[in-house]
Amino acid sequence: PASDPDLVERARAAKAALGDRVFILGHHYQRDEVIEFADVTGDSFKLARDAANKPEAEYIVFCGVHFMAESADILTSSAQQVILPDLAAGCSMADMATAEQVAECWDVLTEAGIADVTVPVSYMNSSADIKAFTGKHGGTICTSSNAERALTWAYEQGEKVLFLPDQHLGRNTAVRDLGLSLDDCVLYNPHKPNGGLTVEQLRNAKMILWRGHCSVHGRFTIDSVNDVRARIPGVNVLVHPECKYEVVDAADLVGSTEYIIKALDAAEPGSKWAIGTELNLVRRLAKAHPDKEVVFLDRAVCFCSTMNRIDLPHLVWALESLVDGRVPNVITVDPEVAKYSKAALDRMLALP
Ligand code: 13P
Ligand code: SF4
Repeated sequence: PASDPDLVERARAAKAALGDRVFILGHHYQRDEVIEFADVTGDSFKLARDAANKPEAEYIVFCGVHFMAESADILTSSAQQVILPDLAAGCSMADMATAEQVAECWDVLTEAGIADVTVPVSYMNSSADIKAFTGKHGGTICTSSNAERALTWAYEQGEKVLFLPDQHLGRNTAVRDLGLSLDDCVLYNPHKPNGGLTVEQLRNAKMILWRGHCSVHGRFTIDSVNDVRARIPGVNVLVHPECKYEVVDAADLVGSTEYIIKALDAAEPGSKWAIGTELNLVRRLAKAHPDKEVVFLDRAVCFCSTMNRIDLPHLVWALESLVDGRVPNVITVDPEVAKYSKAALDRMLALP
C-alpha cells in the first residue's frame, strides 16, 4: 500500500531540517516506505562499513535490527549517537546465543582440552556480548558476504572453529566453500549438558556449530525448491546462506542480500528467478526488474517481523524527536564490551 502522504512529507521535512547531522542507514529487508529515506542501503557488512565511515554525522539512524545498531555504535566515535527507531526490532537468531550459554560452552571445550586450538567465529547477527567473547578469545566476526574468508583465516589460526550462532551459515560455508565434510561438523545444543555432545565428538570435530538459526530463512525447504522448479521451468534458484544446507545445495546460486541484488542486476532480460530470502527485498527486486520473472521461493508469505517493526511512523517519530532536540532510542554498548567487540569487528574489516 502507498505510504500516508502526510507522514512522507513529515519525514522529508525533518530529514531536510537535520541535513548532514543525520545519516540514515537501511538494511535491504526494510520496508519500501523506510528504504525511501535511507542515505545508503546495504547488507550487514556494507552497513557496518558505511556507519564507520561517516564521522561527520552526529546521529546515525539505523533502520535495521538491534545487533546492527550495536555494531554501528561500536564502530563509530563516542561523539556519535546511534538510534534504532523501534527498540523492539531484535533478531530471534541473535537471541539464540546468550553470554552465559557461550561462556558455559567455552568451559565445556576447555574441559575437553580443545579450547586452546579453537577459534571462535561469530556471525554479525549476534549480541555485542557474543562479539566481545569472540574478540577476547582471538576470533573474528563474519557476515554472509565474507564468511568464507573469515573461516579460511580462522583455520590458519587454529585447528577448530566454534561458529556462533547460525548453524546454517557455518555449515554451508565450511562444507561448500572450505571442503570440510558434514561429518567434520557437530551441533552444540546450549540447552543440553555438554552441548549434547561427547568429549570424543568434540575432539574429532573441526567445526563446532551453535544450534541457532533464522526463523525466516528456516521456512524454505527442499519442497519449496522442487515446487518452484516444477512450476517455472528454467528458473534460477538463488538463496541466502542462512537457508538450510539441503536448500542451499539444491539452489543454483547462494549469497548475501547485496550479492542477490547484484545477481539480478546482471541477469539477462527474460530470465526467471526464484529468490529465497526476506519478502520485502524480493518484492522490491520484482518491481525493479519488470523485464525478468522474479518470484518468492516459497508459496507462503515470509517477512522478517522484527525488521518490519521499523515503519514510517517510527522513522518520522525518531527524526522529529531529533529536530526537537531529543535523542530517542539511543543504542549504547558498555565500554568494556565494546572494546573486545571492536577487536573482533576490526579483524573482520581487515580480512584480506
Ligand atoms: P545480509 O544482509 O548480510 O545478507 O544478512 C541478512 C540478514 O539476515 C540480516 O539480518
Ligand atoms: Fe534475524 Fe532472520 Fe530477521 Fe535476519 S531475517 S534479522 S537473521 S530473524
